[in-house]
Amino acid sequence: MSVLAAACGAPGRCYRQNMMNANEIVGFGNRKTPFYLYDMRLLSRTLDEIVRLSSDYGIEVHYAVKANANVPVLRRISSKGLGADCVSGNEILFALENGFPAGKTVFSGVGKTDREIELAISKGVFSINCESLPEIRVVNEIASGMGKKANVSVRINPDIDAHTHKYITTGLEENKFGISRYEFEELVKTLGECESIDFNGLHFHIGSQITDVADVFALECRRAAEIVSWFESKGLEIRNINLGGGLGIDYEEPQKHPVPDFAAWMRTIARTLPRKEGVRVHIEPGRSVVAQCGILCTRVLYVKEGQKKTFLITDAGMNDLIRPALYGAYHKIRNITAEAENRSGEKVYDVVGPVCESSDVWGEDRTLPASRRGDLLAICSAGAYGQVMASRYNLRDLAEAEYID
Ligand code: LLP
Repeated sequence: MSVLAAACGAPGRCYRQNMMNANEIVGFGNRKTPFYLYDMRLLSRTLDEIVRLSSDYGIEVHYAVKANANVPVLRRISSKGLGADCVSGNEILFALENGFPAGKTVFSGVGKTDREIELAISKGVFSINCESLPEIRVVNEIASGMGKKANVSVRINPDIDAHTHKYITTGLEENKFGISRYEFEELVKTLGECESIDFNGLHFHIGSQITDVADVFALECRRAAEIVSWFESKGLEIRNINLGGGLGIDYEEPQKHPVPDFAAWMRTIARTLPRKEGVRVHIEPGRSVVAQCGILCTRVLYVKEGQKKTFLITDAGMNDLIRPALYGAYHKIRNITAEAENRSGEKVYDVVGPVCESSDVWGEDRTLPASRRGDLLAICSAGAYGQVMASRYNLRDLAEAEYID
């Protein structure tokens, strides 16, 4: 156990004093809002925890670049030795430019273009995770045309309910991802015919923001084991089992759980997934690595007294962070200025953005310190799927990033 973890006991509780505090955040007060602020100290500590557990349990970790692709974030993650999980040609190029080796890079996605496949083969990525039979044939053709062999894993749809939001559940038969059981016989035949493919294993990913860690991931492991055995019985050698990402984080109380429970996840895998000698196990966390390290800082533009509600109207909107509008996602809101001033008194607000859409709402009926025009608010847990999903809707400027190191 690392010195830090030993000193603190259970992971997830010990880093509270290291979270960004109000005074530090207020230090950025003159900056143009909205902006994202990343706590690189927390990112490093999260990574140290991941690296320690990954070595204890012998699990290889590929960071899902889609969660946050800012250069300092990618460099910090690659510097700790993690691999990358990419879903586009541009993500592959960016990951390689920012320190991830091709030999630790995996490439997933249901709709890879021919150019992206060519790029992945020419860079020699660790595996192209194929999601359909037609894709396997196209990868084979392209590799053959290049006079090369493509490293291929096959993404399986294990038909498991991840108990998460329907927009981020991926492992059910009705989802577009992976190859389903009824195609397995055909898959074995296809792999046998593809001479330019070096088949290296199976890939699974059942969904995101999974909080029912022990149950859902144990189910995934048991299903994976059963599917691995089936393929082995057909004479295929499964050298790699990739279980994807999905570990959930605490959006309600980020300060209490700044480091997600990687220990529970990896322990569940180690206990539930039987492993033959030499078989490598991989995971692809995204959100759990970066979400708690980032906040979206925004100012109160107006305090508007409605007949039924009091609104705090902020200068950040759904174009800066789309999760509440898209998934109805909860993000904790802090009034940083009020915290720094130790302001007394609380009120209930609807906190809303400026965009002309009724879904541009940060939170309804939130109890916050009595707030004023100009106060700096933090929308918490915004480090994952925040900046990467931002748009210029309404021709608004993109929020920039600041880092505390
Ligand atoms: N591997 C694959 C194949 C994936 O599709 C994903 C995420 C991950 C790994 C990483 O999953 P994570 O550890 O981050 O849960 N925009 C949504 C999340 C979409 C996740 C898509 N796939 C959100 O804001 O909640």
